[in-house]
This record gives sequence, structure tokens and C-alpha cells, in this order.
Amino acid sequence: MIKKHTGLHFSFKYTLVFLAFLAFNGLLAQQVTIPISSEAFTMLLQTDEDKLLKTVYFGESLVNESEYATVSDMYHFKDNNIGIGNATYTPAGTWNLSEPAIQVIHADGNTSLDLRYESHTTTLLEDNIRLTSILLKDPVYAFQVTLLYKVFIKENVIEQWTEIKHNEKKKVTLQKFSSANLYFTQKDFYLTTYHNQWAKEMQHNTAKLTRGIRSVDSKLGARAMLLQSPNFILSFDQQASEKEGMVILGQLAWSGNFKLEFEVDSYDNLRFIAGINPYASEYSLAKDTVFKTPSFIYAISNNGTGEASRNLHSWARKFRVLDGEGERLTLLNNWEATYFDFDEDKISALFKDAKDLGVDLFLLDDGWFGNKYPRNSDKSGLGDWQENVKKLPHGIGYLVKEAKKEGVKFGIWIEPEMVNPKSELYEKHLDWVIRQPERPEVYFRNQLVLDLSNPEVQDFVFGIVDKLFIENPELAFIKWDCNSVIYNAHSTYLEGKDLPQSHLYIEYVQGLYKVLERVREKYPKVPIMLCSGGGGRGDYELLKYFTEFWPSDDTDPLERIFMQWDYSYFFPSIVTDNHVTNWGKQSVKYKVDVASMGKLGFDIFASELEPKELLFCKEAIGNYHSFKDVVWHGDLFRLMNPYKNESAALMYVTTDKSKAIVFNYLVNNRVSFHTNIEPVKLDGLDTTKQYRVKELNLYPGSTSSIDTARIYSGDFLMKIGINPNINLRRTSVVLEVTEVKN
Ligand code: DGJ
Repeated sequence: MIKKHTGLHFSFKYTLVFLAFLAFNGLLAQQVTIPISSEAFTMLLQTDEDKLLKTVYFGESLVNESEYATVSDMYHFKDNNIGIGNATYTPAGTWNLSEPAIQVIHADGNTSLDLRYESHTTTLLEDNIRLTSILLKDPVYAFQVTLLYKVFIKENVIEQWTEIKHNEKKKVTLQKFSSANLYFTQKDFYLTTYHNQWAKEMQHNTAKLTRGIRSVDSKLGARAMLLQSPNFILSFDQQASEKEGMVILGQLAWSGNFKLEFEVDSYDNLRFIAGINPYASEYSLAKDTVFKTPSFIYAISNNGTGEASRNLHSWARKFRVLDGEGERLTLLNNWEATYFDFDEDKISALFKDAKDLGVDLFLLDDGWFGNKYPRNSDKSGLGDWQENVKKLPHGIGYLVKEAKKEGVKFGIWIEPEMVNPKSELYEKHLDWVIRQPERPEVYFRNQLVLDLSNPEVQDFVFGIVDKLFIENPELAFIKWDCNSVIYNAHSTYLEGKDLPQSHLYIEYVQGLYKVLERVREKYPKVPIMLCSGGGGRGDYELLKYFTEFWPSDDTDPLERIFMQWDYSYFFPSIVTDNHVTNWGKQSVKYKVDVASMGKLGFDIFASELEPKELLFCKEAIGNYHSFKDVVWHGDLFRLMNPYKNESAALMYVTTDKSKAIVFNYLVNNRVSFHTNIEPVKLDGLDTTKQYRVKELNLYPGSTSSIDTARIYSGDFLMKIGINPNINLRRTSVVLEVTEVKN
């Protein structure tokens, strides 16, 4: 059932208190108070006597809703005519001289914008989801902005965005058009941001914010997260720990150029602005057309990063990721094993490996296409999506059938947004390629990006996926790669349509979403992995269409412990694909144990494993199938931080607290003595339940030092803990904790 409240229809009791307050302050009929509340938090918005909308509070929710109207009375926000720091959506060109959230040039060339509160509605979409929509209007120009806040009440997650529209005579130029503009009055802000490189994703950086603006951005166009990430952790008053402190885990869900700005102002309050990067992206908006900004998504907690990320994971699984609460396929991939050097026989032999290992699917990676310019390296063939007849004389269909004979499903790699200059596609459709016609081409991995602002290119990209499924209805998986950034940003299509080139970065991403909409309309369920030369992409807008993503090409398990730890703040393990490869000098056991903290895959020649290694893998995959449900759908507790300890420990617990899997790893090989002097304290269990602890994934021939006969209370395991006995000979230990019922 849909319940509606308008700005003028609060509950009776609330309205009386509110009116009394307004009358007392001489503000009758002018001041409107809008609490945007989740279970634990409230962002309080309020108009002033001039109908300017301000953020007057962001913190724990009050018990009595009626008291919200008096909150702002307790603050003396300073405004010395240089701007209003706490404006809820700060315009440029009139009363504001601080960093704006929005900046426009009107149809008549005027550069001033003022936004005043007009009305708002709050609608309960479902029991747990409330949408507040606030309309702001320019008193002089026919220009309006709607602020939207979708609150996932139990999860304390907010998704907010902005819709911009006008009714001026000609087009209006949007110069800046942020998704969110927040304001915080807590003191001392600590910001963790993430910086990436190929095979070095999610390198965190934490600092106390000082006065001035700290910005994080991307101007790369595609593969936009190659250098910086749109994810961040913001702690208030103190650096939040796993269990303590007020914290926000945030992300701009946009797969192109983004910009996050954190400004500690002269009063030591924090202004935050997030949105599409305005860099080279002026957007010319036609009359009566809505420009919808991407969503800014954030989880808030007063109990540290642990609770915030569990809430964000649960939101992602329930409301965002495609089939977030479903199943995933374990797989064997050939990329690290063969690179481009394969043929039908080599691939067919790998189906047997997949079967021997006990995984669900075989994934054929890059190199299967191109005839005039065979894809035998990354220098040619990209764009020519026909099977290479030398490598695969009987085509994909034959491989799907051969895999099926072994009882294994078949999946395939594509990189449909890109083109090698050495390709038939480039020869035929230079007009589809993003390039500056007057300048030499600049390549990234020997390739260029196709112009997805062009509907014909969108059809082409959709057609690649569609043809694969039409010809191979049993195709069970796709890996969608994107290896290049956009150099020489210029679109022949936009030029032809007389549209500004500054639309390209935005329309590229919108074009990509349009293609994915079509793919999902026709193929709603098939799992698709999002990959971008490793983790160059991975945001909650794309994850509406993808079931999982590839965090990094770096599969060295020691590196992965740190990287997966950092990714785990933002993404549930069901969406992170982890493969066992030849990267790293650790044992196969260590590799499999690390890769099991997500969706497990392999990228090796299983036939080249030692017999004991193969036996171990088979048993470990069997174990994985028995506990994957806990890892994919359970609650994550980060127990021991690898950045601060000699070992790392993480655990996943089912929501009914009856089963948990605990992963422990040695991360410092300099220690030659017994490492776990102290036990690892578990978390998320039921104090009153009894549990048995059993070691899984034992290497053939080894015995466990964990006593399976003992029964522990949840209370004991969480207050005292259990010692996994990690040492140089036991570098990784997986423990299964199971409730014992009397
Ligand atoms: C980059 C990906 O990250 C790899 O896993 C692999 O698919 C290659 N591209 C193929 O070119």
C-alpha cells in the first residue's frame, strides 16, 4: 500500500507543535521541516523565512519526531554573506560563493541560479523503503530541481539523486549538476579513499580532513576507476573502528567520470558534494526534458565500519545486485593458463579439467575471434566477433556441446565496447570510433573505444550479445571486459547531430546503460561478470545488470587478502570473483582458501597440478559447495586486520547464527615462531548457542590441531575466541563453526 504525505500534511500532533513553534518565531506558513529518517539516522532539512532549504542536522534520529522542528534553534549557523554552508543543494551565481552543487547558463545567457523550496512529498514505497521528493524552483527563471531521497529504513542506507528540468525558451547549459550535497557539523572528519592501478586496486589512504577541498575524481571516460575509486569511508569525530564510531560508507554509482568533493569550511563543518565530473561535460538540456543525475549511495552507522558494511551488503543483495540473493557458478577460466595461445583441442581438454575439479562452468576468455585480423594478441581483431576458424573450426556451438558432454556449462569473454585499429570493424566503421579526426590516435592496450552515444553502436554492442545467445541458447555465462580509457574524446555521431561534444562522456555511459537494459530485458537471468582490465569498473549502477565483478588481475593470494579486505567494506562477497592462478608463490591450499572468500574460480591447467594438489582442490571445491551459501548470503565480520597484524581473520555467519565459516591467514612471512599467541575472537554468533568447531580444507596427509570433540558456547567463542594455530607450516586455516543442538 502506498501512503502519501505532502509537505503541508504532517501528523496532527506534529503539526500543532510545529505551528506553535513557527508562530513563536514569527515564521508562520514559511518554515518547513523535512526529516529524512532511517531506523537510526536522520538528515534534517528545513526552510528558512526566505524558503531557502538548509541541512540543519545529520545524526542519530530523535525519539520524538515533533522535536525536529526545534533542532535548528539550537545551532547558530553562521552566514556572513559569502554563502550558506548548509544549503541542501547549493546553486551558483547568486547568493552563494562557496563550491556549488549546481551551476547553469540559462537560455538567455544569464549565469545566475537561485533555488527556493516549493513543495515536497514523502511516500512509503514498501514497508522498508521511503521516498522523499523535494521540489526547488528558481523564483525568476522557469528552472527547477527535484531532490530525491530513497531511504532503506532497516539497512540505514540512503540512495539520493537529483532531477533537473526547465521550461525556458531554448536549451539551458548545465555546467555542474551534482547528485548529492551534504552537510555535517560533527567535529574532526577522517576520510579513507581508494587509489588504483592495474593489478593494484583498492590501495587505501586515510587522512584527517583539514580545511579546504579534498577531491577525488576520474576523467578517464571508460574504465573510469583505473586510478581512483568512487568509494570512500568517512568517519566522524574519531577514526571509526570496526565496532565503534559514526561512519558513512559511500559510493557514487556512476560508471564514467565522477567527482567527490570534501570541504572542511571555515567553521570546521564538512560540506560534501558528489556527482558526475563536470570536467569537459557541459550538458545542454532541452526544454521539459529531465536530466537525472546518478545515485549517491551511502550506509550510515554509529557502530563502526563492521555494521555499516553488513548493512550495505544486505542492501546490495536485497535491492541492487542482479540476482543478489541467488546462486553463482564456480568456474574454470583459461586466460591465465593459455592467454591467446589455444585451439579447439586445448580448450576441450580443459572441459575435462573443469569436470575433474568439480566446478560448474568453463569460461573461454579473450582470443577466440577475428579472421582477417586474428585475435592472437591484444594488437588485433577486437571488434570482429566471429569465431576464428583456425582456432575454433567448429565454432562456439561445438564447444558448448563438448562442455555439456563433460557435464560442464560454457561461458564466453567479450569486450564489446572496444576496437583494435587492426580490425575489419575499424576499416568499415571509423565513424563509430571515439577519436579526434585531426590528431594522431592514442591507444590504450592497442585499442580504441566505440562511441556508445551513437544508437547504431548501441545496436551493434547489443547485437554481439544477442547473436551469441541466439546461436548458442545454452550459453551460461558472459565475462564483459573493458580495457581502455577514452583518449581524444570526440564523437562523429554528436558532430553529425549538431550536439555538443561535451555530451560525449555522459552519453557514453548512458548508452552503455541502454544496451544493458536491452540485454537484461531479453536475457534477465544469465550471469554476467563485469570486468575492466581487472577492477577498472565496479559500481552499484552497473551491478543492476551484472551478477558479479572481477576485482583485479592480481590474483597473488597474499595481495588478495589485503585487496579483498578493502573491497569488503563496499561489496558483499557474492559479487566478488576470486580465482586461483599461478600468481604468487603460496601453496595451492593458501590460494584456494583465499579465493573461497567470494565466488570461487580457477585459472590454471588442473592437469598440471601434483596429484595431492589436485586431490586437495577437488576436496576444497566440495567443501566450498557445502559452505558457499554462508559466504555468499551470510553476514561478514572482519576479525583481524591484515594491515595491523601478522595474520588476518574474517568470518561469515548465517542470519540465524547456526553456522559460520572463519578464514585465517598468515600475512607476514618474517615470523618464524608460532604466530597466533592469542586466540581470534569470533563475532556474530549467539551467546546462548553451543557450537562445534571443525577445520576444513586440510591438505592431504596433514592433521588438524583443532579439537572437534569440544563444544563451545557462543559466549566463549566471542569473548575468549579460538586459536587457529597459524604458523609458518599452517599458513591458512579454514574453520567451520556449527551449532550443536541438544
Ligand atoms: C583483462 C582481464 O582483466 C583479464 O582477466 C582478461 O580477461 C584479459 N583482459 C583478456 O584480454
